[in-house]
Amino acid sequence: MALTIDRDEIIGTLKREIQEITDMQEFQNLKSKYLGKKGLIKSLMNSLKDIDDVELKKEYGKSVNELKEELETLFDEKLSELKEKEREEKEKKNWVDITIPGARRKIGKENLITKTRKEIEEIFIGMGFSVAEGPEIENSWYNFDALNTPEWHPAREMQDTFYLSLDKEKLLRTHTSPVQVRTMLKSKPPLAIISPGRVYRKDELDATHSPVFHQVEGLYVDRNVSVSHLKMYLEVFAQKFFGNKVSVLLRPSYFPFTEPSFEVDISCIFCGGKGCNVCKNTGWIEILGAGLVHPNVFQSVNYDPKVWQGFAFGMGIERVAMLKYNIPDLRELYKNDIRFIENS
Ligand code: DAH
Repeated sequence: MALTIDRDEIIGTLKREIQEITDMQEFQNLKSKYLGKKGLIKSLMNSLKDIDDVELKKEYGKSVNELKEELETLFDEKLSELKEKEREEKEKKNWVDITIPGARRKIGKENLITKTRKEIEEIFIGMGFSVAEGPEIENSWYNFDALNTPEWHPAREMQDTFYLSLDKEKLLRTHTSPVQVRTMLKSKPPLAIISPGRVYRKDELDATHSPVFHQVEGLYVDRNVSVSHLKMYLEVFAQKFFGNKVSVLLRPSYFPFTEPSFEVDISCIFCGGKGCNVCKNTGWIEILGAGLVHPNVFQSVNYDPKVWQGFAFGMGIERVAMLKYNIPDLRELYKNDIRFIENS
């Protein structure tokens, strides 16, 4: 029996089939249909055994092998075509446009209270002061008694102070002044410290009051300290903080822990002293309380008031921040509204 192979037909069909192939899976299927274990070439080879004539057998075998090689070439070509396509697709997917501007990350900004606290700290550190800290939960002795604030003083009344115990021993400090006492008990004179921190009072929240706010306390103890030292330090501070043109005015006042005591004003930074709404036409704006340390305070920390004198002051951070950064409402400082923080 003689067998013939219709080479042209087979090649023609495969070429058509191969054209339609779009992915590897289809490719493998088609390849095994022709070249696999149960594929066309295999079955053509199997028919060899049906040929008896040796010459014909040889001939037939040769043409199957040739056909096989042709098919393999076609498949190889298709394979490289598919691989190229795959590479192109991958490249397209991973393409990065390096000309697009990068996404900008917003840079964080400090809250104005923190910023102002640091500014104040830096000025006093520059004048030789160090920074001291004290607890927000205080004993009444540190907050009042040791500061020469007797039982009858209005500052001790319930409406001002958040007491934490019925015997009124524990409280939230109403000012940073107890850090004066804690510092003097811990260290020997001379000393110069400032102490920034949070303080608490039973005040309703409004444009100028808050039940929680911040103060910076100052304490300077040495021999022969007088009001002129106090005024000099405050003047340097005010000019560095608010600007060189600012002058400082001490007005007599009363605090239990200082004698004499002063309310300290700066010349109005808005009108230069001519008179405006902010300074209520006085030309002056109050920024802090101060005075010379009362001998009774020295006595309660075992400093000899005949040897040592000192000045002290306390200022509201929110107050000076509002003046410096022209903020009309205290509540803005606590809201953390990004637009406000960004513009300040
Ligand atoms: N502790 C006072 C207050 O909270 C402020 C103050 C006034 C502090 C005079 C002082 C000072 O150290 O000498 O109102």
